Amino acid sequence: MPEMQLITTVAAMQNLADFWRAQQQRICLVPTMGYLHEGHLSLVRHGAARAQRMVVSIFVNPLQFGPHEDFAVYPRDLERDLALLRPLAVDAVFHPSAEEFYRPGACTTVDVGGLTEGLCGAFRPGHFRGVTTVVTKLFTAVRPHQAVFGQKDYQQCAVIRQMTRDLNLGIDIAVAPTVREADGLAMSSRNVYLSPEERRRAPAIYQSLLAAESALQRGETAVQVVLDAVRGRLESEVSPRIDYVAGVDPDTLQPVARFAGQLVVAVALRMDRARLIDNLVVRPRGSAAEPA
Ligand code: PAF
Repeated sequence: MPEMQLITTVAAMQNLADFWRAQQQRICLVPTMGYLHEGHLSLVRHGAARAQRMVVSIFVNPLQFGPHEDFAVYPRDLERDLALLRPLAVDAVFHPSAEEFYRPGACTTVDVGGLTEGLCGAFRPGHFRGVTTVVTKLFTAVRPHQAVFGQKDYQQCAVIRQMTRDLNLGIDIAVAPTVREADGLAMSSRNVYLSPEERRRAPAIYQSLLAAESALQRGETAVQVVLDAVRGRLESEVSPRIDYVAGVDPDTLQPVARFAGQLVVAVALRMDRARLIDNLVVRPRGSAAEPA
């Protein structure tokens, strides 16, 4: 297997991407903030099967963290990340410094309206502006044909899809399923913040989503009834500090009152140091999942 390159400047990344494009090679990007886990590796496998060249970006993006959020302590371990990626079909890791990526005097950001207002957007002001700005910059550095994101960040996927469409970026946005620990907890770099006691309680998040799915599939149509049950369980079994428990349309992310077709049940809550999110796309029983 050819050696995986570590690229730290935008110019070098663009040169390599141009070289591959000149050879008609399809480039896939998996954007990450590092501290990789099996969820990230599954995105790489998902993308590698659909492209000739695979780039993983590792950049802890200061712009998407609020002033009181965990930017300073976000877990970082580049050597460990590179060791995890080396056995996979990764051609390049793009790892710019914050100074390289955000030049002094930069004053352009990318804003997506509508979809960014509810769910996490309501609790993390400016977060999605940071995400869409950095993803646009990653797209212009790596020049991918396709990018892969994880379904755990459902709203992020919807926002990036919208942005890609609105700006005619011509990049396929693929969404890969959430990867879970054996007990159902969605994998996240932030799970390292959980105390042993919090870690023991956290799987009830997924259990409550599965219970919601089963109630809806058994014929409950009043979405609020199902959400109230999820909220009650989260409050008593996981944490009373709930940001939201929502049932939204998969495309518009607008609240849905009656379950008739597809519904995303999404939750966000806070433990002591970690903010955990998860979601499930509920479809009528027996119907197949949409391809990503
Ligand atoms: O999902 C993430 O890890 C980040 O939001 C992303 C897409 C890498 C942008 O910084």
